Amino acid sequence: MDSYKAVVARDRNGTVSPEIESVPFAFLPENEVLIKVHYAALNYKDALSGNGHTGITREYPHTPGVDAAGVVVRDNNGIFMPGTEVICTSFDLGMNTNGGFAEYICVPAKWLIPLPAGMSMPLSMVYGTAAYTAALALHKMELCGQSPEMGPIMVTGASGGVGSMAVALLSHAGYTVHAASGKSDHHEYLKNLGATAVVSREDVDDQSGRPLLRPKWAGAIDNVGGNVLSTLLKACDRNGSVATIGLVKSPELITTVYPFILNGINLLGVDSAETPVALRHEIWRKLAAKWRFALPESASQFVSLEEIPDLMARMLNGETTGRIVADMSK
Ligand SMILES: NC(=O)c1ccc[n+]([C@@H]2O[C@H](COP(=O)([O-])OP(=O)(O)OC[C@H]3O[C@@H](n4cnc5c(N)ncnc54)[C@H](OP(=O)(O)O)[C@@H]3O)[C@@H](O)[C@H]2O)c1
Repeated sequence: MDSYKAVVARDRNGTVSPEIESVPFAFLPENEVLIKVHYAALNYKDALSGNGHTGITREYPHTPGVDAAGVVVRDNNGIFMPGTEVICTSFDLGMNTNGGFAEYICVPAKWLIPLPAGMSMPLSMVYGTAAYTAALALHKMELCGQSPEMGPIMVTGASGGVGSMAVALLSHAGYTVHAASGKSDHHEYLKNLGATAVVSREDVDDQSGRPLLRPKWAGAIDNVGGNVLSTLLKACDRNGSVATIGLVKSPELITTVYPFILNGINLLGVDSAETPVALRHEIWRKLAAKWRFALPESASQFVSLEEIPDLMARMLNGETTGRIVADMSK
């Protein structure tokens, strides 16, 4: 076999769009480990990459896909035995290295996590970078003393990939979860994931101009940024932690020092892409054991690789919900 099937984003008459192609193995980068992909998860970032967002992918043709799970075919360094099941997420996969929406990927060995006991390849992709990032946030919050007894955790951008995984994970870990969402038709979905209260985006976007607010939550996971993050800090109860993950509204943060010096709030940064290898292993082991949370059926769907280009367009139009995973056997 000298070619394999992949989603390839190409510049077609000045517009980058993704299509299914049969490409030669020379299309893969020369790295240490060749992996046969079994499952790959679709993230918003992949939809952007597949449609020419140069902030994510600089050069085309390119195969998107920041999350893949598969089986090692060969490892030039002999670290991974052929047949080993592995997870590959983050680093440069799917950004400027051909990614998971393909029958094969070829990556550096240090990007790989052997599938931990208790985790299956399909579940690892239902979780993907989204659950991994949420877990990294909770891990950091708990290192700073966060516990369920302190009170509810607010999750913003709750119906999104990271947000919905954060709601389900926090609920599984024993926390009371409050979710903020701009989609009024998703409140039931968020309650099924484990949220006990769902509020509107405006409820976490304080316009009073006051430096501190009456405490409303004991901690928070934020996907939104801007004034929402500022509000989360102002209304967080003493000694709580606020984890900043995303910037869907704004990369800005305008705040005072009062939440920090009067209430002892911790503002925690979360960077899933470059997590040190030991911590990456630890988080995946947690997701495979004590943080192995269940999801309602409506929260994930398995599709064929052929369906991915269309789903990328629908994701950019805000028409998708929950986790979408390509199953290469379909
Ligand atoms: N730090 C890291 O390592 C890391 C890792 C992964 C992702 N991220 C970042 O985290 C963020 C979320 O990623 P994702 O994959 O979950 O994205 P996503 O699936 O698109 O979800 C984002 C959610 O944010 C809400 N939202 C969208 N536009 C908004 C606006 N203008 N104002 C307020 N809320 C808005 C929506 O939820 P509601 O309708 O429910 O409000 C949306 O579903 C992104 O910024 C992404 O780049 C960071």
